[in-house]
Amino acid sequence: MKFFLDSAIVEEIHYALEMWDIDGVTTNPRHVQASGKPFLSVVQEIGKLVAQYDDEKTVSVQTNPHSHNDYKAIVAEGKKLAPMSPNFVIKMPCTEDGYRACHVLSSEGIRVNMTLCFSPIQALHAMRMGAYYISPFIGWKETNSEDSRTFIEEMVSIRDNYGYETEILVAAVRNGRQIVDAAVAGADIVTCGHSVYKEAFDNPYTEMGLGKFKGFWDKTQYE
Ligand code: E4P
Repeated sequence: MKFFLDSAIVEEIHYALEMWDIDGVTTNPRHVQASGKPFLSVVQEIGKLVAQYDDEKTVSVQTNPHSHNDYKAIVAEGKKLAPMSPNFVIKMPCTEDGYRACHVLSSEGIRVNMTLCFSPIQALHAMRMGAYYISPFIGWKETNSEDSRTFIEEMVSIRDNYGYETEILVAAVRNGRQIVDAAVAGADIVTCGHSVYKEAFDNPYTEMGLGKFKGFWDKTQYE
C-alpha cells in the first residue's frame, strides 16, 4: 500500500521522504496557503524535491477551485501545470465540468486526480473518464457520522469489476484506524497529514516496553 503525505510544507515533505519513504504528495489550496508561499513556486519546489528521491513518486497539484464549472478553464490550467514537473498529477473536483476536463486531459496523457469524491457513483464516473487517482474524503464523511468502510469497499469492487486502472487514494484520513480500514478495504493509497502518521506509527505500549527493557539493559553486563 502506498502512503502519501497531504501537505505543501517543504520541511514536512522532506522529513516524510527521509523517515517514512512516502510514495507521493497531495496538495490542496489549504495546504498551499499554509505554506505561506506562492502557489506556482511552492508546487514546483515540491515537484523538484520529490523527483530527487524517485521518478515514480507523484505530486498532486490542485487547479483553481473557482473553475469548477468551466471545463475549458480546468483543461487550460491542467495543460499549463502538467509540463512544470514530470511527477505532477493534476487535481480537479468531482463536478460535471471536472469529469469532462478529466476526460480531455487523460486522453492527452495528462494524469488526473479527481478530488472531493463522496460517493461510489462519483468514483465510477471518474474512472470512466480516465482518472489516474480518485480521492474519496473519508474523514469528512466520518465527521458526519457516515460509514466509510463500505464506501471504499464498493469503490474497490467497481474498479475491479470493470478493470479500470484508476488508483483509489483515500484522503482526509484522521488516524491510524482509518488507514487500516482503507488497507483492509483494498484501497491503493492513503494520504495523511504529518501529525496523523507521527501518531499512528507510535504506540504508548511501545514506549512503556522500552522503559522496561532499558531497566533490564542497565542492570546487565554487555561483555
Ligand atoms: C486530499 O487530497 C486532500 O488534500 C485532503 O485529504 C483534504 O482533506 P483535509 O484538508 O480535510 O485534511
